[in-house]
Amino acid sequence: MFHYAILAHPGHNRIYFQTALAVANHEIEAIMAGQGITLRRFTELTLGLPACISFETDQAIEGEALKALAAASLFYALFQIHEDGRLSPVAAPQWQHFPESLSQILKYTGKTNEQFTRLMVNLAHSACRTGSERLRLVDPMCGKGTTLYEGLIHGFDVEGIEINTKWVQEIQAYMVKFLKTGKYKHKLVKAKRNDAKGKKVADQLVIETAADKADYAAGRVQQFKLCGADTRQAQWLLKRNSCDLLVSDLPYGVQHGSKNAKDTKLDRSALTLLEEALPGWHQGLKSGGALALSFNEFTMKWKEVAELLAHQGFEVLDTPPYTGFLHRVDQSINRNLILAVKA
Ligand SMILES: C[S@@+](CC[C@H](N)C(=O)[O-])C[C@H]1O[C@@H](n2cnc3c(N)ncnc32)[C@H](O)[C@@H]1O
Repeated sequence: MFHYAILAHPGHNRIYFQTALAVANHEIEAIMAGQGITLRRFTELTLGLPACISFETDQAIEGEALKALAAASLFYALFQIHEDGRLSPVAAPQWQHFPESLSQILKYTGKTNEQFTRLMVNLAHSACRTGSERLRLVDPMCGKGTTLYEGLIHGFDVEGIEINTKWVQEIQAYMVKFLKTGKYKHKLVKAKRNDAKGKKVADQLVIETAADKADYAAGRVQQFKLCGADTRQAQWLLKRNSCDLLVSDLPYGVQHGSKNAKDTKLDRSALTLLEEALPGWHQGLKSGGALALSFNEFTMKWKEVAELLAHQGFEVLDTPPYTGFLHRVDQSINRNLILAVKA
């Protein structure tokens, strides 16, 4: 039996810390299950450390499993707890392809907290059954790109769709500046996405880059794609069966101005938007691909989202550790999370 304690990242949500810990427990359980390791028991111990969570396993956590655990959203440091109560630090391997500052630098109203975004990415990753060697992650409502930056940090190819064209321009400017400042080799290309009749649906920005110069020279690049468009056109924007992970923080019931001519009034229902967008998202995912969506329970209920997903042909993950994520963000947002896999 091995006994471990993870010291929680000091930047973790301190206001709702108890809930944050409970949510992170599910994430850690999912990450480890994805590595074939069952966790016995979560206990909150004092241990003389600031906030931490502890658990037991049958086998030592090392290699790929340790790497996966080190990527957990609340991870700061790992200790092994010995029978006599001694703690010994376990050196965490480097799992990040790009520095974490990539998703931390930008601060703006409407940003999804980068640790929560990482939690969603980890959950989707642990549920993904595509078996792809290189994963492609899409955020079809990407805001100013937190999910995309987290995906790059994980070493994935990433794609984003965002209706707010001002934000799309800001993402482009930020990415280019970040890569130039960090002296990362990169190539920027502009492409077009067309519909079945060959009519242009959107411009697409494509950046190819690598954190390592030798990888770039050998063509082992990570792709970053971005379209300024309505996500309801995703069927033309995403290549069919191309994505392994779909991770998105849905609009919280606030107005989302539509560019679609048939919609002249402002649609305040994020659920309607989701219903209209899901066919294109489903088409873009590979079979076995996993989806993680967060949403405000004040605007839509987990059960309603689950019904839409099941209707679209997704298998909703409705047992632990993929349930029990409801948590308060502020007075107007009671955030929940749903996981599903494309059958
Ligand atoms: C909660 S925010 C996502 C924030 C993002 N995760 C971040 O950290 O920047 C939801 C996003 O959905 C976008 N959105 C709303 N309706 C859309 C649509 N029809 N197509 C594409 N994006 C849309 C909004 O503009 C907003 O940026």
